[in-house]
Amino acid sequence: MPDGRPIGFFDSGVGGLTVLREVIRRLPAESTIYLGDNARAPYGPRSDGEVIRFSSECLDELAGRDVKAIVVACNTASAVALADLRRRYPVPILGVVRPGASAAVLTTRTRRVGVIATQATVRSRAYFQAIKDEDPFVEVYEHATPELVPMVERGVFEGHEAEATVRRALAPLLGELDDRGDSVFPLPPSATVDTLLLGCTHYPLLAPLIGSVAGPAIAVVDSAGATASALAHLLEVNGLGAPAGADPEHAQYTTGDLAAFRHTAERLFGTLFPSIAPVALAGAA
Ligand code: DGL
Repeated sequence: MPDGRPIGFFDSGVGGLTVLREVIRRLPAESTIYLGDNARAPYGPRSDGEVIRFSSECLDELAGRDVKAIVVACNTASAVALADLRRRYPVPILGVVRPGASAAVLTTRTRRVGVIATQATVRSRAYFQAIKDEDPFVEVYEHATPELVPMVERGVFEGHEAEATVRRALAPLLGELDDRGDSVFPLPPSATVDTLLLGCTHYPLLAPLIGSVAGPAIAVVDSAGATASALAHLLEVNGLGAPAGADPEHAQYTTGDLAAFRHTAERLFGTLFPSIAPVALAGAA
């Protein structure tokens, strides 16, 4: 039986919109509800306990809106809270770490993958584990680049500040040397990666810049496309696809500043989402 109810998406802020964009491209008949917890972003520097609590509050909000499935469009929440969330809610829940890991393993030729992500994601080792599960012979170099998240939340995607910040953030992973000529990261220069996985959903908003700093020898991949494919599969397996010819509706909510959220939503979707509404989460201070 087709199911016309919406799919819920959640992220700490605007990053998950990059996943939503791919889902809307891939599954145009599906209705969606997106929730950005911008007021409490970034999640990356927070403790696991906080990430689990905040994620649960966001999922309570989505579950209360009768969604048929939920995409945790946040790597930090997927890495730290997914198992817990799956235990608590009776709807199918998809994270972004496994799809991203699989995309990276399918892309690398040298079997050397770099992952940039938040501190909490790197600390969890979720990408390391997910990539090793796909192919134990892939070498994984994880590097936390939390400084990119607040910049994206502020809507800064290009220009001098963005380029300097991306360059500084990637330098260790690209095997660059410090002033004394020492490697600034435990990555020997001979072990440069050929694939850079954007392990945070905020980072695809900086993808052109990241690609130009990384250079043409490094493929830049993210989890959005693979997550959209996994979601299509999830809907099919559960018989939850929207009815043929459905007229989809899209709603977006933020716990933070409406104007800042709209700035990024318009960059990604044009005027597709004219109404973005504020929301206060039960339990949030
Ligand atoms: N977009 C999120 C992620 O994919 C979270 C970034 C943050 O809030 O620190 O990890």
